[in-house]
Amino acid sequence: MQKFVITGGAPLSGHVRIAGAKNAVLKMMAAAVLTDEPCSLRNVPKISDVAILREVMNDIGFDVRRSNGDGLELQAREATWPFVPLEAALKMRASFILLGPMLARFGRVILPNPGGDRIGRRPVDLHVMAMEAMGATIAYRNGYYFASAPPDGLKGAHIRFPTVTVMGTENAMLAATLARGTTVLDNAALEPEIDDLIAMLCAMGAEIERSGERRIEVQGVARLGGAEHRVIGDRLEAETFAIAAAITGGDVTLDGIDPVHLAAFLEVCDRMGVQYEADASASSLAIRGTAHTELRAVDVRTDPYPGFATDYQAPLSVLLTQAVGASTIHETIFEDRLDHTRELVKMGADIELLDERRARITGPTPLHGAEVGIADLRAGATLILAALTATGTSVISGIEHVDRGYEQIEAKLVALGAQINRIEA
Ligand code: EPU
Repeated sequence: MQKFVITGGAPLSGHVRIAGAKNAVLKMMAAAVLTDEPCSLRNVPKISDVAILREVMNDIGFDVRRSNGDGLELQAREATWPFVPLEAALKMRASFILLGPMLARFGRVILPNPGGDRIGRRPVDLHVMAMEAMGATIAYRNGYYFASAPPDGLKGAHIRFPTVTVMGTENAMLAATLARGTTVLDNAALEPEIDDLIAMLCAMGAEIERSGERRIEVQGVARLGGAEHRVIGDRLEAETFAIAAAITGGDVTLDGIDPVHLAAFLEVCDRMGVQYEADASASSLAIRGTAHTELRAVDVRTDPYPGFATDYQAPLSVLLTQAVGASTIHETIFEDRLDHTRELVKMGADIELLDERRARITGPTPLHGAEVGIADLRAGATLILAALTATGTSVISGIEHVDRGYEQIEAKLVALGAQINRIEA
């Protein structure tokens, strides 16, 4: 097991290159299943989630290889073993995104129920509902979904999601590209990663448009071809580095990110008094750290895009420990996504859990080093942020969860002046 040892206090400064978006690239890898032609992705982050999905796809019989630099080459000629093992699903819930493309292209797949994780129950009923609406038969036995399409393939359907779901929208959209007729998805998710996936699918020959508020229309086509696509920058990694700059009173420019995708986070920065300069044409965002006493407390509620992302709230909570007054965070997307607050309290934060979904954070409180750890990606990044601003040294365990979604986080932080080491423990 590895741990991070972090000595806090150094203001971060310099430039950092933001990697491609995890929550876009995983779905694009699944999109490559829709064609037997080669697909090429660029700006692919070197994170363990990509490596896990690559392994799963190789086991199914697809050719997925890293190419020079940040490239990934994929070709899905045939599925020799259309099965996703439980170990992979336990490591990465997003493997469920293979459901739609496998059904659409090969007519069958067996996938484990990815179940719950640290951030709540996380059911997949809406993915199943969408596939069944398109004519699929899905049986659930011994923890696995056995899914098959009718002999003449999936058919278009009108699907209304009762809850906005990112992967549910994507799974249905991927399946619909090769279905007969038109599929209409209502109450669809609006995340920029989905628009990036739509751009790749259209380059492959799919017919997809956003045709109304939260509506996506897909006209099924008989076949799709290969495509080359460059993945958008990761707004969630960008938010983490923006907070690293703000919390340490540093001055950091993030390159390779469209600040428009961060609008909800930047609106909170405005309310708190965090100084920044966004340059959409240069795809950059510069954060100028402010003395902590100047930060204002805010009330924040998470919502589907374009609202304030659930993934933003844990990192933001570190900044709120340094704002003057009482802030509240209201998590509306997942239950159990406030666990990191317990670890922050060990570091000196003044946080009260009002209920399962709401926390009150009172600041400013100086943080101090501690031994902390948590088994979740964004919560892990949160503890790194807290350690960067704490006095003394912190030891953080569970960092394999951070490696799932942050490319070389310690190398990037060291280049900005942080004191952080990865140790074997
Ligand atoms: N939901 C259902 N049934 C379903 C699917 C979802 O009830 O079949 C509920 C969920 O329980 C949740 C809500 O719908 O309450 C929204 O969940 P959603 O389906 O949007 O989440 P997801 O697609 O599984 C993606 C990201 C998450 C991110 C959420 C919300 C990927 C691989 N994951 O998850 O990212 O938090 O959207 O924006 O795209 C992360 O990167 O650390 C991460 C957890």
